[in-house]
Amino acid sequence: MLTTLIYKSQLNLSCESFSLTSLVESAKLRNAARNITGILLFNGVDFLQILEGAEEDINTLFATIRADSRHLNVVELMRDYGPRRRFENIGMLLFDLCTDAPDSVLSTVLRYSKLERYLTAEDKVFKFIRSFINRQKQPVPRPTLHPDDWTLIPEHAPFGHAIPGLIDNQPCQFALQPIVEPSEGKISSLEALIRGNDGGSPEHFFNTIDQDKVYEVDLLTKAYAFALAEKIGIGDHKIAINLLPMSLVNVPGAVDFLMDKILAHGLQPEQVVIEVTENEMISGFNQFNSAIKQLRAAGIGLAIDDFGSGYAGLSLLTRFQPDKLKIDREIISDIHLSGPKQAIVKSIISCCTDLEIALVAEGIERIEEWCWLESAGIKRFQGFLFARPQLNGVGDIHWPQPAVSGHPAL
Ligand SMILES: Cc1cc2nc3c(=O)[nH]c(=O)nc-3n(C[C@H](O)[C@H](O)[C@H](O)COP(=O)(O)O)c2cc1C
Repeated sequence: MLTTLIYKSQLNLSCESFSLTSLVESAKLRNAARNITGILLFNGVDFLQILEGAEEDINTLFATIRADSRHLNVVELMRDYGPRRRFENIGMLLFDLCTDAPDSVLSTVLRYSKLERYLTAEDKVFKFIRSFINRQKQPVPRPTLHPDDWTLIPEHAPFGHAIPGLIDNQPCQFALQPIVEPSEGKISSLEALIRGNDGGSPEHFFNTIDQDKVYEVDLLTKAYAFALAEKIGIGDHKIAINLLPMSLVNVPGAVDFLMDKILAHGLQPEQVVIEVTENEMISGFNQFNSAIKQLRAAGIGLAIDDFGSGYAGLSLLTRFQPDKLKIDREIISDIHLSGPKQAIVKSIISCCTDLEIALVAEGIERIEEWCWLESAGIKRFQGFLFARPQLNGVGDIHWPQPAVSGHPAL
């Protein structure tokens, strides 16, 4: 299975006769022979290396690299699976930030990548690369936002009017709710929320199902969410679906089914994010882990939903690092008034920054909550303040804009 591994380390200054050029030259040849590709970044003190190749080859090489006395503090940052390489045909390419300017290094890295532009923007590997390169630059201070300075301006039905009434011949319907990124003025993704044909909640819908069939129904209904995305024409936008992790384990061929339906409805796997909850993940972790590998290998994204409402908390991230983490609404609600909530969210932000995990704050209802969270560094939001779920469509989106003319935009 195609594996990508990222680690960081520090040059061992007590190592005499260190030559970066000869290290890279011999690494290139050895990597090419093992069909391992990737890049090595160096800033005079720290290394960041991306290695991609077959799982066993990566493990063997990494064990050797780890034991190499030319560097110290070798820390694995990410291990992931994917459908294709980012750096095809490159045995090992060196980028030395001591000699090249950060901006030119970044553009050269992106030029060497074989991934399409729209994929590199949110790709975790490229986020690690960007952060490493941008560490050379001065950080830009973040302004503190005040609720009185902001107003919400509606954008009406960005995907056109919702499909009226219920869609026929389906056991359920879907309501779409955007996750927005106000600082960029863009929709980050659309979450498809299941509804019964009577308009009932997901809990109500699943209570009406024969309990032996819950996993099967959970999986099969996702096809209607993809069909809806196609009907309303989501273009390059992402669609997030909720799935019980055990549906991936218990229903034979679950990942193939999802892939078939994704492609049949004109979507790319990279446009799809599967949201699972923390509690469900923990209960069947080992089986679930192999299903996750398959999903990642297919290119499908993963998010942890309702983070902080369960028992695992931050320790879950030692076992599994998703692309996206959604902070539970209980923690978000009235965050501007609560010291403990603010402390918890700050620690989640710090942890996810180090791991390049994108954060979403769920359940935003008040502008004060958004102001605090945006000032703290969160960029993606979901909640009634911005947009309500809309049955079979996407409703109005309310974007924050400066209320006072002359006030700088985000
Ligand atoms: C920062 C750093 C990155 C390295 N990257 C690679 C690499 O990509 N491929 C490789 O074969 N060796 C790489 N090496 C060298 C290996 O650690 C090791 O010296 C080499 O694989 C030879 O191993 P051997 O002596 O067991 O044959 C790297 C070493 C360092 C310090």
